[in-house]
Amino acid sequence: MAKPKIAIIISSTRDVRFGEKPAKWVYDIASARADLEVELVDLKEWPLPFFNEVASNAWAPTQNEVGQRWQKKVAEFDGYIFVVAEYNRSITAALKNALDFAYPEWNKKAAAAVGYGSVGGARAIEHLRNIAVELQMAPTRTGVHIQGGDFMAVWQQGKDIRELTYLEPNITSMLDELVWWSNALKTARAAG
Ligand SMILES: Cc1cc2nc3c(=O)[nH]c(=O)nc-3n(C[C@H](O)[C@H](O)[C@H](O)COP(=O)(O)O)c2cc1C
Repeated sequence: MAKPKIAIIISSTRDVRFGEKPAKWVYDIASARADLEVELVDLKEWPLPFFNEVASNAWAPTQNEVGQRWQKKVAEFDGYIFVVAEYNRSITAALKNALDFAYPEWNKKAAAAVGYGSVGGARAIEHLRNIAVELQMAPTRTGVHIQGGDFMAVWQQGKDIRELTYLEPNITSMLDELVWWSNALKTARAAG
């Protein structure tokens, strides 16, 4: 069976964002593995308007051209790693909008999360897991949380994110679970 294709989705879009750092860190670790293929998908490069369609594309085709392209992009993957910024205890508006802009393309796919913030993005990631249920995704148990002093040190004090080696076992567990679910769901989708 072909390796599962995994998107690493950067969820924050502001010019001075931190999100690129953990995304590239996880990308480097994931791309060194032989059991998956990874691609960075940056929401900043997807100028989706605020959702203004007659319905979710579960029910009616999307008219917006960027939305249509986004759906095709989402459909390319067997699983996703969301790089989660926590804004007011939830995910970013940009990520929620991007999630709302597709439906069948997310269905029966696996989802993992890497968060950062005062509590490692934990509250936003729990919201994301709840949303994933409605999108018929399988969220992994293990997430990666860059929190507290470590987040501040990398964000504001110039510490190299690769020094957070104690998080690497978490990344390995998360990727192991993501690959398992991605392969299982890929087989099941192919079987109809
Ligand atoms: C609008 C806004 C709301 C925020 N709310 C939270 C929050 O609820 N919890 C938290 O830990 N950090 C919060 N922060 C701080 C972010 O964790 C921090 O700014 C982080 O760098 C945001 O990710 P980004 O740089 O990729 O945009 C907030 C930041 C912004 C801009």
